[in-house]
Amino acid sequence: MPRISTSLLRKARAIDSFLPALLAPCRDLPAAQNELRWLREHVDKVARARRAKGDTLAKGALLRQLVKERASGKPLQYILGTEYFGNLEIRCRPGVLIPRADTAASIAYLVGLLRNAPGLPSQLRVLDLCTGTGCIPLLFQHELYSTPNDIDLRVLGVDISEKALRLSYHNLRKVCNARQYAKKTYLKFMKADVLVNPFAQQTVRSLSLKAALNHNKQPQFWDILISNPPYISPSAYWKTTTRSVRGFEPKLALVPPSRASQTDEEQGDLFYPRLLAIAQDVEAKIVLLEVADLEQALRVARRAQGLDVFDGIEIWREQPDDARHDVPNDDDISILGQGNARSVICWRGAGASWLGKATIATSQQEDAQRLIQSSSESHLNTTPARPDDAGRAEPLFDVGSFSRSPGRPFRMSKTIPRQGSLERLGNPNYCVKGDSTK
Ligand SMILES: C[S@@+](CC[C@H](N)C(=O)[O-])C[C@H]1O[C@@H](n2cnc3c(N)ncnc32)[C@H](O)[C@@H]1O
Repeated sequence: MPRISTSLLRKARAIDSFLPALLAPCRDLPAAQNELRWLREHVDKVARARRAKGDTLAKGALLRQLVKERASGKPLQYILGTEYFGNLEIRCRPGVLIPRADTAASIAYLVGLLRNAPGLPSQLRVLDLCTGTGCIPLLFQHELYSTPNDIDLRVLGVDISEKALRLSYHNLRKVCNARQYAKKTYLKFMKADVLVNPFAQQTVRSLSLKAALNHNKQPQFWDILISNPPYISPSAYWKTTTRSVRGFEPKLALVPPSRASQTDEEQGDLFYPRLLAIAQDVEAKIVLLEVADLEQALRVARRAQGLDVFDGIEIWREQPDDARHDVPNDDDISILGQGNARSVICWRGAGASWLGKATIATSQQEDAQRLIQSSSESHLNTTPARPDDAGRAEPLFDVGSFSRSPGRPFRMSKTIPRQGSLERLGNPNYCVKGDSTK
């Protein structure tokens, strides 16, 4: 990391005695000035809240303390307690990953496509695995109801971390109190370990998703599956994340656990095969998986392709709505938008028309057929229909029970070759801009 020049330090001190300390995490003067302003506003807010309770606060001492914490590399979001995710202010606490703008951009883009989609079911079920602060379910709801519609949205966020679940419920209360949506949404959070094989022995500490869905009387079928899982390999963790990320954000949220005789890359990719298997089991029509970079995106897309289940697969960049660019690759997978590759989106059946892709001729019929087929093929019992499950058969979650109907061609959009190379292997999402405490 280049040293900050003495002249810059002197200039900063002349403006405000707190500024030099903020130059280290911010790197430039305008960014440090912004952060100092936010910290001062925060201190004023805390002082007002204390005053309302009849307490007093030494504002100078608090500001000095916060500047010291920030200078040590603590993320501003943990100090201020919130971060914007799209238009939503989401509460952040140490121990739970700070939501990133790129994730919000993919969700907003997805919901933007869905808002006017023909043939959405009257009850739209969205499963968010590895939910963290609950930012994805909350933004999905917010974006969907940003224009009036009759969709009955049911969203379930799942995480293994108790800390994350407590925070997600806190965010749910906060967002729903602040914003009165015309429609009442069913939004819940639940604990489960996404990596636990449903047929392995279950422990109370780590229920598989299937067991947790059953236990919490949740549906077994979901229309859309979204996940921003831990996806950084151990070597990338050391090479590409900032010191601030490593020092303050939970490793559980970033690096998948290690398994015996596994390569570094396989560890980074650990969640994806499981997430794709779950997507098959819950018969998701759309699957959106966040990834670190283009190399990982291509590996995930190829794996999804190999399942022979999806009708289409695309890679979305940071700004998927920006002018379209296609990068040539051997797999013929379209890559949309501008910036780093951020997510892999897969669709099948009705999901094609929900995304505005050319609908395959018999998608709805096929879906109905598939439901009947998977119900009758399922060797597990059928849960009794619940009032809110009207019209949907609910066979219990059966790993590998779904397979692609024979004869349907696998459809990939064609690519137009473009000048340019693959992005460097790295993790731009966790190298926070302006944070060079690396
Ligand atoms: C990259 S963070 C994503 C958080 C949030 N969705 C977001 O976009 O900001 C990954 C999350 O996965 C959770 N997690 C890690 N291992 C898990 C597992 N085996 N099962 C379920 N959740 C897990 C972590 O607790 C963390 O909240």
